[in-house]
Amino acid sequence: MIGRFLSLEGGEGAGKSTQARALAAALEARGVHTLVTREPGGSEGAEAIRALLMQGDVARWSPHTEALLFAAARADHVEKTIRPAVAAGSWVICDRFLDSTRAYQGVAGGIDDAAILALHAFGSRGLLPDRTFVLHLPAADGARRAEGRDGAAADRFAAREAGFHADVARAFEGFAAREPERFRMIDAGVAPGAVTAALLAGLADWLP
Ligand code: TMP
Repeated sequence: MIGRFLSLEGGEGAGKSTQARALAAALEARGVHTLVTREPGGSEGAEAIRALLMQGDVARWSPHTEALLFAAARADHVEKTIRPAVAAGSWVICDRFLDSTRAYQGVAGGIDDAAILALHAFGSRGLLPDRTFVLHLPAADGARRAEGRDGAAADRFAAREAGFHADVARAFEGFAAREPERFRMIDAGVAPGAVTAALLAGLADWLP
């Protein structure tokens, strides 16, 4: 089987992690070998960088420093986890990837998209997902869902104000509109099973 690289994107509380697991289970049931991974993280080195990025005060890192740290984490993740799995024929489902940097550090953080893509070209030799699903939820719903998580202290990103999250949501919509070959928008405001069904429908052209 040909390996594939899929990413799930969206704002806080859109259900990406739940859907990554549900989609993997549905694909496995169809005989597709899958690997679920996440960013920042997904390899030993990238998980160490994740701890630096997620903990501490909102102002601990500037958007420029964040962009470098995310690019460094991604380079390790791509080299150690994603490329080998895809080469072995697996379908890799990644909970966030490059487009999160373009949305959070880029559109919401004020960094030029071309600069983020240049870092990605250097660090990860420009690897792009074969398909990217944006789980879309009105930002206020996402914030409510993220707050409702058991005992989860808001991390450095979730702690930002509503305007930042609105910018992030608009960024993902913009990418999907401008890059329709790679992106699919998915309504995440419906029952979880219906979201998983929509993801599967978005892969129908590749399913065995
Ligand atoms: P999550 O594990 O809840 O998705 O948290 C990751 C946080 O990091 C989330 O708030 C989005 C943020 N983030 C960025 O700002 N840039 C990135 O490139 C990635 C992958 C995540």
